[in-house]
Amino acid sequence: MTYKNFSLQQLREIDAAHHLHPFTDHKDLRAAGSRVITHANGPYIYDAQGNEILDAMAGLWCVNVGYGRDELAEAAYRQMKELPYYNSFFRCSTPTPILLAKRIAELAPPSLNQVFFGSSGSEANDTALRLVRHYWALEGKPQKNRIISRQMAYHGSTVAGASLGGMSHMHQQLGGAVPNIVHVMMPYAFELALPGESDHDFGLRAAKAVEDAILEAGPENVAAFIGEPIMGAGGVKVPPASYWPEIQRICRKYDVLLMLDEVITGYGRTGNWFAAQTFGIEPDTISTAKALTSGYQPLSALLVSDRIASVLEEKGGEFFHGYTYSGHPVACAVAIANLDIIEKEGLVQRVREDTGPYFAEMLRQRAAGHPLVGEVRSVGLMGAIEIVKDKATRERFMPAGSAAVIVRDHAIANGLMMRATDDTMILSPPLVWTRETIDMAGDRIARALDLAEADLASRH
Ligand SMILES: Cc1ncc(COP(=O)(O)O)c(C=O)c1O
Repeated sequence: MTYKNFSLQQLREIDAAHHLHPFTDHKDLRAAGSRVITHANGPYIYDAQGNEILDAMAGLWCVNVGYGRDELAEAAYRQMKELPYYNSFFRCSTPTPILLAKRIAELAPPSLNQVFFGSSGSEANDTALRLVRHYWALEGKPQKNRIISRQMAYHGSTVAGASLGGMSHMHQQLGGAVPNIVHVMMPYAFELALPGESDHDFGLRAAKAVEDAILEAGPENVAAFIGEPIMGAGGVKVPPASYWPEIQRICRKYDVLLMLDEVITGYGRTGNWFAAQTFGIEPDTISTAKALTSGYQPLSALLVSDRIASVLEEKGGEFFHGYTYSGHPVACAVAIANLDIIEKEGLVQRVREDTGPYFAEMLRQRAAGHPLVGEVRSVGLMGAIEIVKDKATRERFMPAGSAAVIVRDHAIANGLMMRATDDTMILSPPLVWTRETIDMAGDRIARALDLAEADLASRH
């Protein structure tokens, strides 16, 4: 069966009749009809109407080596012919997860040398949650199981992922979250800094919220703090430089484990293999997925510190946890080929030294001065544009979120896929973007902002 035998209208009808989409208001979707993406190449995606769109989201923060890479298709094909599947249970293993685990450990901060595979970021975080609680139980402290997270954090959409995350609308639909997880303020200076408060001081204050939560529970009851190095789905919230070192200090002081969710930032996005390296921190676990295969196969890897792994090995007995697809041979083969590309093409270094700074400059030149823009920020190839009604006071358009959607729709209509989260535009392009691609994105961003400004002026 090929989709080419179906018209766009037919595909939309079948989609509406049978396909429930993630994070979607289905009534809305069915009224509007879905955007059907049919193929992609390099930095571009193409929809069923033939529109070419520059993908400033790398799919969903994942297609870091860009689309249409033969090496990845060939790696999958070879592995499928040789060994499409075998499990890693019952003292079995297969070559590709063995070699991939070693490769990841070599790239990671020195204290993380063990890897647990799954198929999604949510699964990695589920594993991380179980593992840290199990660790403290094995250490004879089963009551030390509270997890501290942050409001607006996104850690996935399984019950564990949504419970760890700080999205209140998700909690409301859970019908009962995983117990003993609390959420504190996020390091979002743009909205939460006090008048006159420096970025540095705000970062320390946001970190203090974590310390306060530890003291409130009693450090003997707190297992871990979990955070995305840069909050992604919550709006690319780049913390002040003072934040992460202070979090590390607090976690060490109270012997609270540090769980870093690098599902977006892992494998080069911030200009280092891991954002732990960008921010100079040493977490106990790192959750990764997405860019591990550049999205070509579903795969996650939870990196585990020697401290946790040694207790698991020495005191643990059987760890009653795992997935059918833990260490899937094909996904791991694709991941190895993907890491080969990132290494061979020097993409991490390129982001750090060239395209990351160039991207930041493009945001400053093409967006920061625009009347609709309250702030731009970025680290590596991960950026945000805050949409405001009043640049000076940072007043937003009402209803909340409506202005950013207008910017987004103009961006897409003008050939740039970027996302809107509340009133923040977010960008996370493939790491293969060049200076020319960044310039092209800058033109399209500027145009979308101008068109949105005209629309909003006529609305108000
Ligand atoms: C930081 C973070 N953690 C976890 C997840 C969940 O990953 P998945 O959708 O693969 O389950 C995401 C997804 O966007 C994410 O951004």
